Amino acid sequence: MAEHDTIEGGGPTTENTRRCSTVVGLHWGDEGKGKLVDLLAKEHDAVVRFNGGANAGHSIQIGDERFALHLMPSGVLHPGKRLVIGNGVVVDPEQLLAEIDGLGARNVDTSGLVVSSRAHVVLPYHKDEDGLREAMLQGRAESAKQKQGEIGTTRRGIGPSYAEKTNRSLAVRVGDLLRPEVLREKVAASCEIRHAMFAEFASTDGVPAEALDAEAITERMLAAGQRLRDRITDTVYLLHEMVQRGQRLLFEGANATLLDVDHGTFPFVTSSSTCALGIGPGTGVPPTCLDRVIGVMKAYCTRVGAGPFPTELENATGDAIRERGREYGTTTGRPRRVGWLDLVATRYAAMVNGCTGLAVTMLDVLSGFDELLVCTEYEIDGVKTDRFPADAEALRSVRPIYTRMDGFSGDLSLARSVGELPARARAYLELIEQHAGVPVDIVSVGPERAQTIGL
Ligand code: GDP
Ligand code: IMO
Ligand code: MG
Repeated sequence: MAEHDTIEGGGPTTENTRRCSTVVGLHWGDEGKGKLVDLLAKEHDAVVRFNGGANAGHSIQIGDERFALHLMPSGVLHPGKRLVIGNGVVVDPEQLLAEIDGLGARNVDTSGLVVSSRAHVVLPYHKDEDGLREAMLQGRAESAKQKQGEIGTTRRGIGPSYAEKTNRSLAVRVGDLLRPEVLREKVAASCEIRHAMFAEFASTDGVPAEALDAEAITERMLAAGQRLRDRITDTVYLLHEMVQRGQRLLFEGANATLLDVDHGTFPFVTSSSTCALGIGPGTGVPPTCLDRVIGVMKAYCTRVGAGPFPTELENATGDAIRERGREYGTTTGRPRRVGWLDLVATRYAAMVNGCTGLAVTMLDVLSGFDELLVCTEYEIDGVKTDRFPADAEALRSVRPIYTRMDGFSGDLSLARSVGELPARARAYLELIEQHAGVPVDIVSVGPERAQTIGL
């Protein structure tokens, strides 16, 4: 175990320890959180993941080099930062090691990384189960014309791993990777149960026998545990100690608010608390420590996977935005669904997160359109509302009411101050501020660090 294990608690946090910032996505993911976290990391001492797992795909571009991070916190490109995978994350140990190795091969220092011993493990059978459930739901929906089809998950085992955590008895935590007997017993029992569950589908879906070979899985996990050994620690004490020392933490949200298991477009969501509300349970750091909450949003909307999307553009305009914005998934490569900016959803998400500021990304992508539509109200069953409905069915029946904005043109990627943006682009940002009720602090006009206004 790592040395921080011995750190004693530092007492309660106080007003002057509120030095923590948060970056969260306000829509359905891929808003540019990786870029923002990379930029803000330099003024923080640690970058902390609190939710999700390898379903996240956070990209950072530095010159010609692109980095796609799934579990590794996006502060890794700044040497000397503490990088923390908190207890709320579900960790696929082999995926994490592959990331550590891949970054190492590119001479990126990952020595600052620690992993909570309380974080839960994604086991190979969770990924199999994820795929099987999705295939079953898809088949059922197609054959019986049922509404409840697949979610379109990333098949990274996220849902089954969080379900295992909630089911408790057979859940494997990262600390268990260092306890061979405990691990062996849990994996054996899990495989036994799943053997019965999977058997029925094995013939149609071809789940290979080794998928449930408990001994092989245990050995793989123990080997991964040995390689992660020095990084596994009690991150709750580590983080509180940093706060007490006056060090600054940056919390990195994965996935995004509208995919939150409680506050998103349920059931078309992921299985964790993706918004700022998830920081407490996902790290052990209380809300009194939180200071700045930056909600990251694109200048338009995208979504990957199934679920309602009121402003979706299934036409040439949507295709044009997809191509200009290179809207293909960082984790799965799937084409992202594209739509106009939805300010009803944005305002709701900013409210739930308690955002102190917004970061608007991809403004450059919208350059060149004659007009831009922005959804500023919904109509549901003939009644206008500016509220985001809690129910996916209600959201499906929404008729978006649009405000038409004049389009802007020119190469925005060269702008380095708000004054250098076209007046119509500034008007677009003002409309966002007006409806979200939160100031736009940062504007991103390209994937690179320098292509940013307001930092
Ligand atoms: P995340 O999951 O929120 O970190 O976002 P992703 O990395 O999955 O997707 C965002 C994509 O947009 C990445 O390819 C980024 O390099 C890119 N990107 C970020 N900000 C901008 C921007 O302002 N303009 C453009 N054109 N691309 C951007
Ligand atoms: P980042 O951090 C976009 C979506 C999936 C699917 C649903 C459930 O890169 O923004 P899961 O595998 O979590 O059970 O899938 O959630 N989803 C994301 N979409 N970006 C993400 O992460 C996502 N994480 C999950 O597409 O619809
Ligand atoms: Mg992403």
